[in-house]
Amino acid sequence: MAEQKKFYGQEEFSKGLEGVIACESKIGYIDGQKGWLIYRGIEIGDLAEHSTYEETAYLLLFGKLPTRKELDEFNEKLVSYRKIDPRVAEIIKDMPPKAHPMAQLRTAFSALGTYEDPAKVDEFDLETWTELGIKAISEMATVAAQVGRLRAGKPPVEPDPTLNHASNFFYMLTGRKPNELEADVMNKALILHADHGLNASTFTAMVIASSLSDIYSAITGGIASLKGPLHGGANERTLKMFMEIGEPENAKAYIEEKLAKKEKIMGMGHRVYKAYDPRARILSSYAERLAKLSGNEKLYLIAKEVEKVMIERLGKKGIFPNVDFYSGIVYYSLGIDPKMFTPIFAVARVAGWVARVLEYLHDNRIFRPRAVYTGPLKAEYIPIDQRS
Ligand SMILES: CC(C)(COP(=O)(O)OP(=O)(O)OC[C@H]1O[C@@H](n2cnc3c(N)ncnc32)[C@H](O)[C@@H]1OP(=O)(O)O)[C@@H](O)C(=O)NCCC(=O)NCCS
Repeated sequence: MAEQKKFYGQEEFSKGLEGVIACESKIGYIDGQKGWLIYRGIEIGDLAEHSTYEETAYLLLFGKLPTRKELDEFNEKLVSYRKIDPRVAEIIKDMPPKAHPMAQLRTAFSALGTYEDPAKVDEFDLETWTELGIKAISEMATVAAQVGRLRAGKPPVEPDPTLNHASNFFYMLTGRKPNELEADVMNKALILHADHGLNASTFTAMVIASSLSDIYSAITGGIASLKGPLHGGANERTLKMFMEIGEPENAKAYIEEKLAKKEKIMGMGHRVYKAYDPRARILSSYAERLAKLSGNEKLYLIAKEVEKVMIERLGKKGIFPNVDFYSGIVYYSLGIDPKMFTPIFAVARVAGWVARVLEYLHDNRIFRPRAVYTGPLKAEYIPIDQRS
């Protein structure tokens, strides 16, 4: 084995590319030891407190907070792109209803790209990619809402141009206008999930874009990657786990059993954070408030108990709640179907995907890592009749 590695002149590698620096970026930074997250230098807590999703998306894409005029123009664009081709709804309707909404979102979003002018989509031009990226941020909300409506057997809701991005998404998904608290929490949730370094889905989008494929392909790849339970799919599973636990006093035994079987506790742990995820901290207070208001307080108490037991057991290994730990309770308390939790993540994260893809393309180099070959160096081709 050692000889084979030597053959390729490479002895060491980083599984999952952990810790490997693949590019430079000015978009966002995570200090995993301190539990600190910034977008373009601004702390996530400040953005959640004061910004809107539109403004945050602008910041991620263009590197600075917009002036009022710039924000108005950006908003106008987003609003103008909210209506999507009606054939997408027909495609979603034709999908098997038991398919996961992330699979439906992936397919529907990919289909949406085919209705764009190929002369625009398939030619590489950064200005066009930027415009289509802004369009995609707006369209993602509409496609995700349509997936949610149609799988619930309800007709799509027309976008409301008077509502901001987060409120309009809530409206298109639920069919009712959010109250002040609901509008605030949806806006905050989208900001908190908008970007997070070179996570699997962002990296996937960048890898696709680096071949100069097209922006719809890159975003579709991002959705596909986000679907997994080790990434965006964790929020839905975290809520399911709280429901399975049933009572706060069951949490300890449940966790011990899972840990004994070497199973992961959903919503806990992070590849980068070895401290409390600042996004989870912000969502935790909303989870408490909304759970009480919606009669789901028990879920919150179960979550608190799971958090306590896990930190006692694995805090020393740097295992703390991540963003998915409380987001599920928040969305569930807003009356949203758990199956739609991961699509909501995509509605937020698309801004990060677009921003990072565009940034990378300014100085593009196609991604091409290598594997350490550990197979045989010489093997014979045996004709099929002679194989055992
Ligand atoms: C996110 C995740 C994939 C990171 O994995 P990772 O980088 O390999 O995790 P670490 O290297 O920090 O793990 C350190 C140790 O803690 C354990 N651990 C990590 N997360 C754990 C969890 N959620 N539950 C139980 N044990 C966990 C690991 O198994 C490892 O144990 P070991 O020392 O016995 O090998 C992992 O924490 C996980 O699967 N979490 C649950 C899914 C989730 O919430 N995903 C959303 C992320 S935003």
